[in-house]
Amino acid sequence: ALRRAGNIHWQHLDVDKAARARIKGQQPRVLWFTGLSGSGKSTIANLVDKRLHALGYHTFILDGDNVRHGLNKDLGFTDEDRVENIRRVAEVAKLMSDAGLIVLVSFISPFRAERRMARELFAPGEFVEVFVDTPLAVAEKRDVKGLYAKARAGQLRNFTGIDSPYEVPEAPELSLDTVSDSAERLAQRVIDFLTD
Ligand code: PPS
Repeated sequence: ALRRAGNIHWQHLDVDKAARARIKGQQPRVLWFTGLSGSGKSTIANLVDKRLHALGYHTFILDGDNVRHGLNKDLGFTDEDRVENIRRVAEVAKLMSDAGLIVLVSFISPFRAERRMARELFAPGEFVEVFVDTPLAVAEKRDVKGLYAKARAGQLRNFTGIDSPYEVPEAPELSLDTVSDSAERLAQRVIDFLTD
């Protein structure tokens, strides 16, 4: 690939991340929710967002389904497109954390390598990987959007868990078991992790 970046220099900006965060009275964080389609990522992220917002924190949610309507609408679900999807959203999360926000990212993000790449954009402790741990059989049984049925019927290719892989996180900061706990309680666990 052509590397144009060689002629591009980093522009120093006087108002830095710490200054932007200070004015908000918070420490920037990236809560990275990963899990199968239908695992409950968006539900839990939404609850966490609502509670953080009510506590006076400045937050923002980046959600796969929504970002794919705009910034990433040119991307599909091949491995290559998912890699690019996650690369872009990780960079957007970085910009938002530079702006001092607490960012909640809710994407399947099925590959370890890309989750690691995302983590490496942030200072130690800033990136919180939240594994929304729902077995395939449970997500498939819920099938809220009817996509598993389509995938099983061969009407939807490259579906995560069916004919596209999901690599389970090896050392997430938080692992949320959605079978034995409610979304409300799991959201509270995330809040407790943040505020401890
Ligand atoms: S990824 O893997 O991180 O790039 O995926 P993401 O951007 O989070 O998009 C996942 C949502 O897209 C819908 N959808 C699919 N998911 C998985 N595989 C295939 N082939 C697919 N096609 C469409 C699906 O509604 C996902 O939403 P969630 O909220 O995860 O269920």
